[in-house]
Amino acid sequence: MAQIRIEQIRKSYGPVAVLNGVSFSVEDGEFVVFVGPSGCGKTTLLRTIAGLEKPSGGRIVIGEDDVTAWPPARRGVAMVFQSYALYPHMTVVENIAFGLKVAKVPQAEIDKRVKEAAAMLQIGHLLGRKPKELSGGQRQRVAIGRSIVRQPRAFLFDEPLSNLDAELRVQMRAELVGLHERLRSTMIYVTHDQVEAMTMADRIVVLNAGRIEQIGAPLDLYRQPQNLFVAGFIGSPKMNFLKVKVVEASTGGVAVELPGAQHVSIPVEAGGLAKGDTVDLGVRPEHLHIGSAENAAADLTLPATAQLVEHLGSEVLLHASLADGISLVARRAGDVMAGRGDAVSIGVNADLCYLFDKDGRSLAPLRPRRFPQ
Ligand SMILES: Nc1ncnc2c1ncn2[C@@H]1O[C@H](COP(=O)(O)OP(=O)(O)OP(=O)(O)O)[C@@H](O)[C@H]1O
Ligand SMILES: [Mg+2]
Repeated sequence: MAQIRIEQIRKSYGPVAVLNGVSFSVEDGEFVVFVGPSGCGKTTLLRTIAGLEKPSGGRIVIGEDDVTAWPPARRGVAMVFQSYALYPHMTVVENIAFGLKVAKVPQAEIDKRVKEAAAMLQIGHLLGRKPKELSGGQRQRVAIGRSIVRQPRAFLFDEPLSNLDAELRVQMRAELVGLHERLRSTMIYVTHDQVEAMTMADRIVVLNAGRIEQIGAPLDLYRQPQNLFVAGFIGSPKMNFLKVKVVEASTGGVAVELPGAQHVSIPVEAGGLAKGDTVDLGVRPEHLHIGSAENAAADLTLPATAQLVEHLGSEVLLHASLADGISLVARRAGDVMAGRGDAVSIGVNADLCYLFDKDGRSLAPLRPRRFPQ
């Protein structure tokens, strides 16, 4: 178990810069999740921590050791890949024990560790099988077992659940969280999956084009995204964005003009904004109201036309177009009886709107936002 410090890590392949000075620390025992669009450098960063890639600049410190120049085996971290990378000709027990055999760990010790890991992962009955005789979830457990027996200082997971079907993912997600609670080891986990990131992470690192956009606890990223990128990336369906004109910027907030010429004052700091500026307004689908009963609590309502209504049973997603043809998605629990072409009114709470300046930075709220309970 150990803290991992990433200091100004850069990585280029020839002229292509993939990591542009990435710095952060993962605390001892912490579960940190990397998210970011495809190609942003998540795998490269993980492989650099594992020692499988050599950084072009910067340092990696694990515990007290600067491991930047160390080979992978000496670093004491275990990496679990999306592809599992099991040896097809070996049985489960041979796969799990392989690394320990190579390291010349005494057989009695190997037997003990394999038995413990197999019990923890509930694969004791599969030890004699070959990988091809296992389901995807079972293979995944073997790959994790192989890393557990090494008793690493940290675990690195690169999209380990992405090959599994939806139900198994949910089950394995819970198992990995349980494993983290039992082992209390440092874990770094890469995923594309919003729900995995939000539910598993102590903290999320949002990467974009080889840079960190924001680091924080899941709900902090959801509630206080620092910029347009994080606001759009965290949350599903994603935040709605509208281009709006500033009609007044003062210490009391920023008044903007919405489609249909309605004005609304958003309680955020004016920053350097001035009347006439065009800014991005963001509002999450789950913070919009649909229908007159709910709209009683809204600060203003926007007339809209339903374009697409997705009935998911427990909730409904309404895609609607406003005056000026701008589209919004609203989400609400239960169901709503609207069909394509129907007139609907969409309620907006000024308090739950975000404004982003011309550099895409989120303007700080004047008072804490009141999120629905
Ligand atoms: N060996 C390599 N040579 C050249 N470019 C590479 C190499 N490995 C990765 N890259 C490039 O580096 C960038 C980051 O790749 P990386 O695999 O780290 O992305 P990622 O965030 O893990 O993406 P994904 O979500 O698709 O797995 C990509 O643009 C990729 O094309
Ligand atoms: Mg990757």
